[in-house]
Amino acid sequence: MKNKSLISINDYTKEEYIEILDLAAEFENNPNQDILKGYVVATLFFEPSTRTRLSFESAVNRLGGKVIGFSDTNTSSSTKGETLRDTIRTVSNYCDLIVMRHPLEGSSRFASEISRVPVINAGDGANQHPSQTLLDLYSIRKTQETLENLNIFLVGDLKYGRTVHSLLIAMSQFNATFYFISPDELKMPEEYKLYLDNMGISYNEYKEFADIIQQADIVYMTRVQKERFSDPIEYERTKNAYVLRTNMLKDVKPGMKVLHPLPRVNEIHLDVDESGKAYYFTQTLNGVYTRQAIITKILGLK
Ligand code: CP
Repeated sequence: MKNKSLISINDYTKEEYIEILDLAAEFENNPNQDILKGYVVATLFFEPSTRTRLSFESAVNRLGGKVIGFSDTNTSSSTKGETLRDTIRTVSNYCDLIVMRHPLEGSSRFASEISRVPVINAGDGANQHPSQTLLDLYSIRKTQETLENLNIFLVGDLKYGRTVHSLLIAMSQFNATFYFISPDELKMPEEYKLYLDNMGISYNEYKEFADIIQQADIVYMTRVQKERFSDPIEYERTKNAYVLRTNMLKDVKPGMKVLHPLPRVNEIHLDVDESGKAYYFTQTLNGVYTRQAIITKILGLK
């Protein structure tokens, strides 16, 4: 992992996932340390973010490092027409690590080829969000006490939701059984189903899940990704396809937890927050420890 960019969840092996999760658990016990003293991390967000940017910045600050960057492209020279190539060449002279979110699929890979320092993909269009996946794995392992042989429900926008694409790849290493629940317009893309076919991993597709939720270990809800639709009418038609409510949680497994990468819009009713099944806010906290682990591994400090 040392000095290697993290662009796709495929960049790490199953053993490396476990290394990161074990290190994240150490940071959970002791999050404030001076490991990053003298290091500078750049956060370049060409798309909006609350959790990813702030949890990366919290992770660096808690480890004694410094953060530079932008969260609004209007304050960067990209508004003057500067290319991503030139931005990355420049910023990589100012820091030891770049964390980048960008709307274009493949942009992080491209940045990693230009940069003098490693790049972490903080979301590239509808493609991947690998640090989210590692914090999702941490959250799943913590709640289920294992990653092996779980029934994982992926619900909502499976077409444009980059978090479910990365999570599917990672959890396929642990013999998960997947339940894909989406409207026809937002089904899991064929390439990911082909990936599971090649791995010999079971999945089924559904339009509803009230009658099968009893089988779930994890229900991973997702927001319909408004910003990725070219047709606003299609967004309006699908935006409220699923709303998880407490009455659907009556007969679920005792250890079942609801995860969501957040932000949520309407897909989880507020009453679920107090149901004892909601884990999405603790999931955001886990993001700090997991990102501390990713950063220190990539910088070769752990
Ligand atoms: N989960 C996630 O990526 O959230 P943000 O868009 O707020 O970073």
